[in-house]
Amino acid sequence: TFYPVILAGGSGERFWPLSRRAKPKQFLTLDETGRSLLQATADRLSQLSGHGHDTLYVVTSSEYRSQVLDQLEDLPTENLIVEPVARDTAPAVLYAALSINAIDPDGVMGVFPSDHRIGDPQAFGRVLDRARSAAEKYGSLVTLGITPTFPSTGYGYIERGPSVEAELEDAALPLFAVSRFAEKPDRETAEGFLRSGLYSWNSGMFIWTVQAILDAYRAYEPELYAALSSAMTERGQARRVFPTLQKISIDYAILERARNVQVIPAEFGWDDLGDWNALERLLRGEDANVSVGRHVGLDTGGAILYTTNGDDLIATIGLEDVVVVRTHEVTLVVRKDRTQDIKQVVKQLKEHP
Ligand code: GDD
Ligand code: MG
Repeated sequence: TFYPVILAGGSGERFWPLSRRAKPKQFLTLDETGRSLLQATADRLSQLSGHGHDTLYVVTSSEYRSQVLDQLEDLPTENLIVEPVARDTAPAVLYAALSINAIDPDGVMGVFPSDHRIGDPQAFGRVLDRARSAAEKYGSLVTLGITPTFPSTGYGYIERGPSVEAELEDAALPLFAVSRFAEKPDRETAEGFLRSGLYSWNSGMFIWTVQAILDAYRAYEPELYAALSSAMTERGQARRVFPTLQKISIDYAILERARNVQVIPAEFGWDDLGDWNALERLLRGEDANVSVGRHVGLDTGGAILYTTNGDDLIATIGLEDVVVVRTHEVTLVVRKDRTQDIKQVVKQLKEHP
């Protein structure tokens, strides 16, 4: 059986001030569908799995538990896995793998972030089928690679090694061994990766058997594995163990270290809604600017304008390439090429509220 697991515990700081600690971006509706990113992810996966919400799991931290349940009405409560405190994705994925192992040790698991858009769900479904059969056949950790378009420092990079069973391959979906996985490289390294033509971006989605991923944790994160598996055996233990865990993402903890990683380079209209600039790709129309809410612009071009209250008006004059966001409590004005630095503002506010 295939178990899609949605990661929904991040804090989404780069979408501040729309994304607040209390309501990070996976819970926000950013486009006109009326569905939040989390809801759209769950809709897509439960359609593809063929089991509806029955085999769908969501992992989140305790502060977002009720928001997940509110947004996903059909999710059985026992399919919601709650980390007492967020410790990044390595503990979250292991916790999910251990929970699935307890009910179905032969299961195949897919890990899916809740901050993506997928433009072509049918193509995505075909890639998933391919990934599932590869994961079962090889016991490998299967990643889905995206063709990189710029030297982003916010993604993982996957170097393609030899093609696996090239002669049998359905030419549309080849499978490669991975010779290197590099999480969030610096600019120069990312530029080199791009030039080499050998690298894909890591989409952040992974497919593997429950046993393959548990083996990987035993090999590369033995302390984490020991701590969390003991927490599984006794009720209430997780609350004691989680705060003691090191914060580390699965990319650093497992993917950079494991030897049995494979990649399917794939195209399915993937977009990581990483920061405000993504809104432009999402809502791009004929206008000179992208706006949600009312906007009057005089000599304004390439701007992204967002108001949470439909009655509010943003007026701009003589501006190029800016982002203006107005919420109840906050107004943000930032140059488009500096949106990654919103994290620093959030950090400052945390330190000096
Ligand atoms: N349950 C849980 N607990 N979920 C978490 C936690 C946590 O502590 N931290 C983050 N998440 C969720 C986020 O909500 C998101 O859906 C997903 O895990 C990925 O976390 P991000 O924080 O958004 O990771 P990233 O974007 O910096 O990097 C990852 O995704 C990129 C593609 O979007 C990596 O896998 C990169 O290699 C990849 O390129
Ligand atoms: Mg992300």
